[in-house]
Amino acid sequence: MAEIIIGTGAAVPAYVLDNDGVAELVETDDAWIRERTGIRQRHIAKEETTASLAEEAACRAVVDAGIAPNRIDLIVVATATANQRMPCVACEVQEKIGAQQAACFDLNAACTGFVLAYQTAAAYLKAGIYRTALVIGSDCMSQVIDWQDRSTCILFGDGAGAAVLQRQPGLSYLPVAGADGRKGEVLSCQALYEEQPFYKKSGDSGFLRMDGQAVFKFAVRKVPEAILEVLESNGLSTGDIDWFVIHQANRRIIESVARHLGISMERFLVNLQEYGNTSSASIPILLDEGKHSGRLKKGQRLVIAGFGAGLTWGASIVQIA
Ligand code: UT7
Repeated sequence: MAEIIIGTGAAVPAYVLDNDGVAELVETDDAWIRERTGIRQRHIAKEETTASLAEEAACRAVVDAGIAPNRIDLIVVATATANQRMPCVACEVQEKIGAQQAACFDLNAACTGFVLAYQTAAAYLKAGIYRTALVIGSDCMSQVIDWQDRSTCILFGDGAGAAVLQRQPGLSYLPVAGADGRKGEVLSCQALYEEQPFYKKSGDSGFLRMDGQAVFKFAVRKVPEAILEVLESNGLSTGDIDWFVIHQANRRIIESVARHLGISMERFLVNLQEYGNTSSASIPILLDEGKHSGRLKKGQRLVIAGFGAGLTWGASIVQIA
């Protein structure tokens, strides 16, 4: 048994903050941000929330898949920025789209979240437990950004993307995933327990903190490794892959991954110039744009690969119906 993507959807907030807008908040400029990251602008949630963006992306993916919501057996939402601790965002999506038959849960693996949510849903399908799953990545990173910290606030944006997976007979691909919990401090964000000061440790800020160079070095080493591992474990090579869809954090990371793999940047989908780093949403937004722009075609074989806080990483081979 295998799984295939039969529908995609995406949603981003209406408000656009360009690099000049960021330069009004911290000492930076458009030229530096473009040159060091490739980012031109990002969407920031003013009215929207992690749940509302997830719901919008989910509705679009279900319409795109052409299935009735009550045929969805499972909803998994990857997020690190849910507005509430419970109920989970997946339950809010279920209620909104009328997928009453679906089991629901959220999963947090930061920017690797969508890849791990995809792998989790695919495992249920391959095991024959469920037939149809809705996988969503949704994050409002703007909520946890310190808008006075120029080393992070230039990078992130808000958004959501969704994919409907369906079980189908055929060859199933093995996934790759890993983590190094010893490197947690490289990219972290403390939860604030303001109601219960007892839990609050000195130094907690509730803001994302990052050693950018350490994350950069980790990504340019680990992402090509994970891609080569997932190809090898499935008896494939880079030539068997039509598109590489990797987490959108910095254009220089994507270029380095392409160089390591010895393949042209033209085989990578890239949209971080428009959205910045949308964490768990970056890969499904790319899938949706690729599908609707006609670049991703029926039957093509893709590699999705993510990396992020944890540190975590993952790669999978996916197919579009
Ligand atoms: O989902 C995973 C999330 N995270 C990532 O993927 C982050 C990966 N890391 C990166 O993308 C890069 O490390 C950054 C974009 C965060 C930083 O780029 P960098 O090329 O590593 O810059 P740097 O930290 O080495 O700083 C170079 C210089 C420094 O000045 P000096 O010491 O050379 O005079 C910084 O103070 O650039 C300065 N700088 C800035 N200048 C203008 C740092 N941030 C900025 C800024 N605007 N926003």
